[in-house]
Amino acid sequence: MIDVEDLQQRMASLGKRRGFFSPSYEIYGGLAGFYDYGPLGTALKDNILALMKRIYVVENGLLSIDTPVITPHEVFESSGHVSEFTDFLTMCKQCGSSYRGDHLLEGLVHNPDALGKKELADALKDTEVKCPSCGGELGEPHPFNLMFQTHIGPGAASRKGYLRPETAQGIFINFQYLLTLNRGKIPMGVFQVGKGFRNEISPRQGVIRVREFDMAEAEIFFHPDKKEWPGFDAYKDMPVNLLPAKGDTISTNFGDAVKNNLILNEALAYFMAITKRILISCGLDGERLRFRQHERDEMAHYAQDCWDAEALLSYGWVELVGIADRSAYDLKQHQKGSGREMTVLDPYDEPVEMEVTRVIPVMKKLGPLFGKNAKHISHLIETMDVNELTKPLKITFEGNSITIPDDAYEIKSGMETIMGKQYIPHVVEPSYGIGRIFYAIMEHCYGESDGYVTLKFPAEMAPVKVGVFPLMDRDGMGERADQISALLRELRYSTRMDNSGSIGRRYARMDEIGTPFCVTVDYDTLKDDTVTIRERDSKMQIRIHLDDLPDVLKGLFSFKTLDEYGEPLRPAGSSTDE
Ligand code: GLY
Repeated sequence: MIDVEDLQQRMASLGKRRGFFSPSYEIYGGLAGFYDYGPLGTALKDNILALMKRIYVVENGLLSIDTPVITPHEVFESSGHVSEFTDFLTMCKQCGSSYRGDHLLEGLVHNPDALGKKELADALKDTEVKCPSCGGELGEPHPFNLMFQTHIGPGAASRKGYLRPETAQGIFINFQYLLTLNRGKIPMGVFQVGKGFRNEISPRQGVIRVREFDMAEAEIFFHPDKKEWPGFDAYKDMPVNLLPAKGDTISTNFGDAVKNNLILNEALAYFMAITKRILISCGLDGERLRFRQHERDEMAHYAQDCWDAEALLSYGWVELVGIADRSAYDLKQHQKGSGREMTVLDPYDEPVEMEVTRVIPVMKKLGPLFGKNAKHISHLIETMDVNELTKPLKITFEGNSITIPDDAYEIKSGMETIMGKQYIPHVVEPSYGIGRIFYAIMEHCYGESDGYVTLKFPAEMAPVKVGVFPLMDRDGMGERADQISALLRELRYSTRMDNSGSIGRRYARMDEIGTPFCVTVDYDTLKDDTVTIRERDSKMQIRIHLDDLPDVLKGLFSFKTLDEYGEPLRPAGSSTDE
């Protein structure tokens, strides 16, 4: 049994040595919270994302989009990130080191992440926590906004902006456009993969908590009254470990979890089930996975319910995916902030005539008062709910409250033909931390026996699909191996040639990077076009004709095993790797 710190060391060392991941900017002394992915790491990350795109975009028909990282202030003002996206920072009064207050309380109080400012300050006092660096007194915690700020453009015309902390807002602000592309149909799912940025107070745990990271997010828009989700039946019986906000872990299935009101609705449960399927397909061990529900105080400002998919790693239970019910929060906020409608029409069976009361902006008053902003302000006024009007009328524009004079708007009632009811859809959002999933795969697939390391990646995840070896690099075997490698690449299998050292050492190198299959060219190949093919997990080898290689590999990559294709070359139990 490897102890946890040893495992973290081994991951860091294997990550760097074999080109999976390593700390960034090392030649300039390093920079906390930034990691490079090497050639194998990039390939593994690409494979995770390809699997997710296949499931979300191809199988489930979500719309895939790509929006900018740099985002103007107004977007995050509306979304609430400017005021709410904070962690509590406490600094040592003696040495000036900075800490995330809740991190200092881990293991000392229950769920420190859920504490408010005062509770956190009290808990730091009660537990008498001192600076971990110098033992000094800690200062009062205060909120620290996690967004990286920037200026867009030069000089006076420059605008305040941020590197996005989530890709989600790029989807919300495009809601109406996407709905049109989806021919007005709800439910609608939109998927986006990209970089997210958070100026973490204390980056830690390797690639787990970093300042720049890859994320994949799906925003699923649906009618708030809709209780069923298409396709949920297929996942009803899938087993799941749930740790609800109140209570102990329950082993159940998704169908019962919805029936027993543990999970709020089928949409949420469906995307939790999809998430479990993705994580298992990535190679995570189902026994070390659970979904943990957030406590009320722990939830992000936009969420009304949230389940984290967590994996048990050497760092303890680590969140890999957050699956939140964001209700209509974001669309409402952007409707208010931009003055653009974020509603969908739920058509009546027949149009109805009814009296409607509306707020009508008076442009000839607004124009002189607000100049170039008048149109935007007029939008904000006309989209106001008449039932929520105040006198004097106040609206929020670019973060400031402004008063609208009484003569700059009118309230008018009249008969109108109404086609249906406008509503703002609700949103379920699975948000995946790709670097975290990447690291969890590394740990869960890592096996070591007497110093021999194997990464048991599922074939679909493996960065190198087939190792190709000439028994020796002479008598034409090297050239033959080159030809086979080229053929396999044409068939879209990534290959790696290795012609140095004993065959056993070459298998060991391939096992250490998780290559599921190896093909060896030997003297018989030159005579009769046969090769040996070896399976990483069973270590079994069989001899096959080269003409059969594409079909055999196709089967092996579709979950068949090598014993379905021939007799082992050596009796079971004997070493096969000389
Ligand atoms: N969009 C989810 C998150 O920012 O964590």
